[in-house]
Amino acid sequence: MKYLAILGRQPEISLAELKALFDNVEQKSGEVAFFSSEEEPVLARLGGSLKLAKQLENISPEDFLRALPEGKITLGLSDYSYSSKKYSSRDIKNISRYGIKIKQALKESGRSVRLLPNSTPVISTAAAHHNGLGLHPKKVELIKFKDAWFVSLGAQNITAYSERDQARPARDAKVGMLPPKLAQILINLCGRLPKDATILDSFCGTGVVLQEALLMGYNVYGTDKDERMVRYTEKNLAWLAAKEGLEPLLRTAQGDATSFQWAQPISAIASEIYLGPPMSEPPVDIKLKTVKQECGAILTEFLKNLSGQIQPDTPVTLAIPAWRRRDGHFERLKTVDEIEKLGYNVLNKSEGGLLYVRDNQVVAREIIVLRKK
Ligand SMILES: C[S@@+](CC[C@H](N)C(=O)[O-])C[C@H]1O[C@@H](n2cnc3c(N)ncnc32)[C@H](O)[C@@H]1O
Repeated sequence: MKYLAILGRQPEISLAELKALFDNVEQKSGEVAFFSSEEEPVLARLGGSLKLAKQLENISPEDFLRALPEGKITLGLSDYSYSSKKYSSRDIKNISRYGIKIKQALKESGRSVRLLPNSTPVISTAAAHHNGLGLHPKKVELIKFKDAWFVSLGAQNITAYSERDQARPARDAKVGMLPPKLAQILINLCGRLPKDATILDSFCGTGVVLQEALLMGYNVYGTDKDERMVRYTEKNLAWLAAKEGLEPLLRTAQGDATSFQWAQPISAIASEIYLGPPMSEPPVDIKLKTVKQECGAILTEFLKNLSGQIQPDTPVTLAIPAWRRRDGHFERLKTVDEIEKLGYNVLNKSEGGLLYVRDNQVVAREIIVLRKK
């Protein structure tokens, strides 16, 4: 089946995630990608996509709507053929007119439709989410891209993300706040994993990566140098498991990732390593040098230690620090060559790396996708 994804704020990261999981991924515009999948993809498992939709094949949008179960239909229409900032008032008029035409045609066949108004050619992700479009047979978003139509499978669940992020019982601002979306991306960049895979986070902190891995149904294994963090992870995972009715298949231990011997099996590693101290403005050269050395030594020693304990081809996906310099460029922790010398192939070698960064953020995260040689 052919699917469409609306890419997130950093499309290159969203695309990398889709490519790791699905076939025939093709970027069609700044915010649209097509892909194919035999199984229906689940949006809630993807950190980088804002909407997913399935192509309407051999059926017109009107006939699709007519075939829905009885009762009033809530309908949103989106046309993503234009780049998000380059549409005209005529484009809004066109999609609105099409909505009125569909509404009229359905009325004539005895179906009533509540049409969501278009203030742009697309229904925003937030409006699609709040109206439950794609999550109920009669709450529908139809998405157009050029001459193809797709039916939405849902929009990013902003409410669930912020609840998972903010309601967990053990939090610690000092170890940083890994967004749950980025945790999902790190796990997904490990590729298609067997259902009973065990994900290791060897810098587990408060357990955000492991929370997301647990929700995806994996077995989870968390270690951290700081005993207190291990307890935080246990507490957060117990809370999540109780809330979601899941079995917390969790193994934990206190251990320094540069020397610890992990228990087997380990199917994949997804971790945010130590990022150094938080910074509110670009560091002076001497400070940058010291922090880079400290984080670099942890990364090198960790990768060396891990290498002897995992099978060839094991996926290792890491978020590592990169610092905004005074000249505006980012200082990266390691070059591809330096990492490859430690016994790993770097899968994402794009120039400049995959940087996950917000406006004005000084400590960014570079995402590196490795496979043990
Ligand atoms: C950036 S935080 C990770 C945050 C985590 N992703 C979370 O969701 O909370 C880095 C973690 O690495 C741990 N750490 C630092 N050096 C370490 C080492 N050598 N071995 C293992 N853990 C280490 C810290 O205690 C901290 O919890």
